[in-house]
Amino acid sequence: MAAPILNLHNITKSFTRGGEEITVLRNLNLQVAEGEFLGIMGPSGSGKTTMLNLIAGLDKPNRGEVWIGGQCVSTMSESQLASWRTRSIGFIFQFYHLLPVLTAYENVELPLLLLPLSSAKRRQQVLNVLDLVGLTDRMHHRPGQLSGGQQQRVGIARAIVTDPTLIVADEPTGDLDARSAVEILNLMGELQKGLNKTILLVTHDPRAAERAQRIVHLEKGQLLESAEMEAAGLLNDGAGSNAIQASEPRTK
Ligand SMILES: Nc1ncnc2c1ncn2[C@@H]1O[C@H](COP(=O)(O)OP(=O)(O)O)[C@@H](O)[C@H]1O
Ligand SMILES: [Mg+2]
Repeated sequence: MAAPILNLHNITKSFTRGGEEITVLRNLNLQVAEGEFLGIMGPSGSGKTTMLNLIAGLDKPNRGEVWIGGQCVSTMSESQLASWRTRSIGFIFQFYHLLPVLTAYENVELPLLLLPLSSAKRRQQVLNVLDLVGLTDRMHHRPGQLSGGQQQRVGIARAIVTDPTLIVADEPTGDLDARSAVEILNLMGELQKGLNKTILLVTHDPRAAERAQRIVHLEKGQLLESAEMEAAGLLNDGAGSNAIQASEPRTK
C-alpha cells in the first residue's frame, strides 16, 4: 500500500458508565490508502460510531494515535481541530442532520462559511456539488420538502463541498427505502471512482458493503478482515457478511 491517508495506531477507547469502565476499542489498528473505498461492518454497539468519531476528531482515544494525511489528529487542540475538520472530513449521517430552516443550497453552503472564500467562489462550489448529486432543481427546497433520498444527497453534497481528505459515512442508507439506498450507494461509488475520494462506509447492509473494495469487521474492540472472520468461524459459508447481523434498531 502507498503511504496510507488514514492510520489508526494502537487505538484504545473506553467509556465510564455508572462507575464502570467499558473498553469499546482495544489496540485497534487500521490503514486506509488514498482513494480506497472501505466498508466497516459490525454488530450494534461494537464501536463503529465511536471509531468514526475518533477519526473525525470529535472524540479522543485513551491510548494510541489517529493520523490523517500526515497529521496527528489525536493531539490537536480543539481550535486546531475545528478548522482541520472542516477541510479534512466530510461526515455523512444516517439521519442526514440537515438544518430544517435552511434550504438545500444553504445547508450545503454552511461548511464553506468557515473557510476564507469569496462569495463568488463559495457559490460556484455549492452549485458544483449540487449538480454532482443531481439536486440543482431542488436547491431552494427545505429538507422537509425533500424525500429521504434527496435529503441524503444534500448530506453528501455538504460532506464533499470542502473537498475533504476523507469521507466518512455512518450507516448512510440505514433510514432509506431500497431504491433510494441504491441511488446513494451509486453516488458514493461515483465519488470514489470519478473523483478518487477516500471513503469509509459504516453499514449493516451487506448490499451496501458489497460496494466497498475491502471490508473490515469490528468485533470485540478489534478490526478483522473478512478472511480472518471466516477463519474464526464468524462468517457463514456462502452467506458472506450477511451472517453478521441483519439489522440494527433505529437509534433516533
Ligand atoms: N459517550 C459515550 N458514553 C458512554 N458510552 C458510550 C458513549 N458512546 C458510545 N458508548 C458505548 O460504546 C459502545 C459502542 O457504541 P457505538 O460506537 O455507538 O456502537 P455502534 O456504532 O457500533 O453501534 C456502546 O456500548 C455504547 O453504549
Ligand atoms: Mg453507530
